[in-house]
Amino acid sequence: MKFKKLVLTGAAGRLGSYLREPLSQMCEEFVSSDIVDTLSNLAPNETYVKADLTKLDEIVALLEGADMVVHFGAIGDEAPMDELWGPNFYGAYTVWEAAYRNKVRRVVYASSIHAVGMHKKSDFIGIDAPHRPDTFYGLAKCFAEDLASLYWDKRGVESVCMRILSCAQVSNPRAVGSWLSYDDLIHLVKRAIDTPITGFSVVYGVSNNDRAPVDNSKAQHLGYRPKDNAEKYAEEIYKEYGALDPQDPSNTCHGGPFASVELGNSGVAFLNLNPEDTAKS
Ligand SMILES: NC(=O)c1ccc[n+]([C@@H]2O[C@H](COP(=O)([O-])OP(=O)(O)OC[C@H]3O[C@@H](n4cnc5c(N)ncnc54)[C@H](O)[C@@H]3O)[C@@H](O)[C@H]2O)c1
Repeated sequence: MKFKKLVLTGAAGRLGSYLREPLSQMCEEFVSSDIVDTLSNLAPNETYVKADLTKLDEIVALLEGADMVVHFGAIGDEAPMDELWGPNFYGAYTVWEAAYRNKVRRVVYASSIHAVGMHKKSDFIGIDAPHRPDTFYGLAKCFAEDLASLYWDKRGVESVCMRILSCAQVSNPRAVGSWLSYDDLIHLVKRAIDTPITGFSVVYGVSNNDRAPVDNSKAQHLGYRPKDNAEKYAEEIYKEYGALDPQDPSNTCHGGPFASVELGNSGVAFLNLNPEDTAKS
């Protein structure tokens, strides 16, 4: 199915940079957006529009004529509320409100496991687990998911909230369960776009890992069937890290280090991310 126009926010970011090319192939007109000045390697049907998520007029103009918006722009880590308030909270409002004003059919949203990060991994939560954020960052994801629910119930804007677990190379024991490969991310976003009817949907963004700690069985209608499996990294990673403290929330809760950091302090700093995990272009 070819759409007329798709818009991607956060296009200069790490995940956005992996989505640009596949999304450009799904539509006639593809608009990448971010707050940076320029973006290189544009596809033939791609234009770049600089827009600030905290400016409603800019986001309303950005979404004009769009079939759907894929919303990945945000601050991607825990930070003080002052820093998150604009891009992650109000910036979510501007996207859903602009979608409504422009009659955009659907918002495909990069939510996060951190919306439910204080749940225990042993609870094997489903998509209907109550919100239980681990940080202000996770609270912003809860807020955006509730906006998505509200704009569906009251204004008919569809949403797919993809609670991504961790989309980066497997570099710590948590990621053996939580890994979402870049290929599976692309597959997930494609399905969130091309499923004809989604209403308000939630799905976990996780690969087909033997030790995936979440249950997507109530999101079958999206047809998301991940292929990659982090089990191939398990032996090496577990050997490297040795015994883990079974009382430490960063080992027992879905949020990993976000479950144990002080509010306002970075969680990403404790993820031991591989330096190769940078934006694609
Ligand atoms: N990387 C992961 O594993 C992961 C996990 C769960 C959720 N997510 C979510 O996925 C999305 C993308 O994550 P990422 O890892 O690519 O992060 P990233 O920081 O690399 O990309 C985010 C982009 O948003 C842009 N942005 C920030 N403030 C903006 C503003 N005011 N106006 C316009 N653009 C703005 C940034 O410039 C950046 O390019 C985020 O919403 C993040 O919360 C990521």
